[in-house]
Amino acid sequence: MRYNSYFRTIALLLGIALAFLACKKEAKEDLSDISIFLPSNFPAPYYNLSANPITPEGFALGRKLFYDPILSRDSSIACADCHISYSAFSHPDHGVSHGIEGLLGRRNAPAVQNLIWQKAYFWDGGVPEMDFIAINPIENPVEMDESPANVVKKLKRHPEYPALFRAAFPGRDTIDGPQMLMAFSQFMGALVSANSRYDHYVRKEAGGTLTAEELAGLETFKVKCSACHSTDLFTDNSYRNNGLLSTFTNDLGRFEISTIQEDIGKFKVPSLRNVELTSPYMHHGKIKTLEAAVEHYNSGVKDSPTLDPLLKQNGQLGIPLSTSEKQNLVAFLKTLTDQTFIRDTRFQKPE
Ligand code: HEC
Ligand code: HEC
Repeated sequence: MRYNSYFRTIALLLGIALAFLACKKEAKEDLSDISIFLPSNFPAPYYNLSANPITPEGFALGRKLFYDPILSRDSSIACADCHISYSAFSHPDHGVSHGIEGLLGRRNAPAVQNLIWQKAYFWDGGVPEMDFIAINPIENPVEMDESPANVVKKLKRHPEYPALFRAAFPGRDTIDGPQMLMAFSQFMGALVSANSRYDHYVRKEAGGTLTAEELAGLETFKVKCSACHSTDLFTDNSYRNNGLLSTFTNDLGRFEISTIQEDIGKFKVPSLRNVELTSPYMHHGKIKTLEAAVEHYNSGVKDSPTLDPLLKQNGQLGIPLSTSEKQNLVAFLKTLTDQTFIRDTRFQKPE
């Protein structure tokens, strides 16, 4: 009798402790509602979401990989070292990124956001599918300098990854490259930024009030910028030369992929979402402030054989902007900052 109640008490206490632990874990991390937010002001996405549907396990695996330096040759650098959440997953203060052993790259690390609406990735569109993105930094000798096959080997030997892969891809008995890439896409595909003040304004939601200055900036933007930075993604997904240089030697842009002469010096029109947070700017990362980026169009445009015709109308270089237009444009661009996105703990480094 006495023993019985003694054991019952212990069992009860254990049960409470376990329930407490389980609750604590759940309160820390609940991914059951993870899904891709499709904002009503965005066009239809390009990525086929039904071919790789997002699951809590796949998302959590992709996120762990994104934050894990195991992907690099000497385990020194993770994707997240160059794509930092508080700057919309760009690399603040780095004109060009430095990767393994501090080696310098050639281009500025773009924000990682709204990928499912992009037609192609990288400044030159050299990666045609979201599912292939991760291979490039892994193999890049100045980024992670590792082979995907070796990454798979390291993941198989790891104490946690085999179980995480089985949970994300049930029925597959071994880790392989395609699963890794699909997990990356589940995480990166969910990085949707569409809750800026501008979005609330467009969708007529609470918190969507723009000041007179911002509204004036929006009007100027529509007239002078939206031909290239179009739709609520602020890009038409095309490649253009916006006059940064008069000769292109170090980086030929889209030409490096298409090998068409007319593509020399053309780069992907970047989205301007969260642009307040992603300094420095342009493919070479040489423009440091938003004011200077706007001023570029007014007075910095350089002529070259592939300069976009929109930036050379009636023989005049650039887009003339008055002082107040420039100020208003900068004010408007700052309404594209999405604090909800950069503070979303589901997107940040897991414990
Ligand atoms: C050493 C810094 C560095 C590391 C590490 C790195 N990246 Fe990048 N990332 C860049 C740079 C620079 C670019 C632009 C490349 C280009 O245009 O040629 C880029 C481009 C991208 C893009 C394209 C964004 C767009 O809009 O076109 C995505 C997505 C991305 N990286 C994801 C990743 C993932 C996933 C990893 C890890 C497997 C990773 N990156 C590791 C620097 C880095
Ligand atoms: C002819 C097309 C075109 C027009 C018009 C245009 N842009 Fe751009 N914009 C681009 C391209 C292309 C890039 C990237 C160029 C590069 O890095 O080589 C760019 C880059 C930018 C960037 C840097 C973004 C980043 O993440 O690095 C800002 C800011 C910007 N544009 C703002 C504007 C504003 C404001 C206007 C209107 C005054 C404007 N653009 C008009 C094509 C255009």
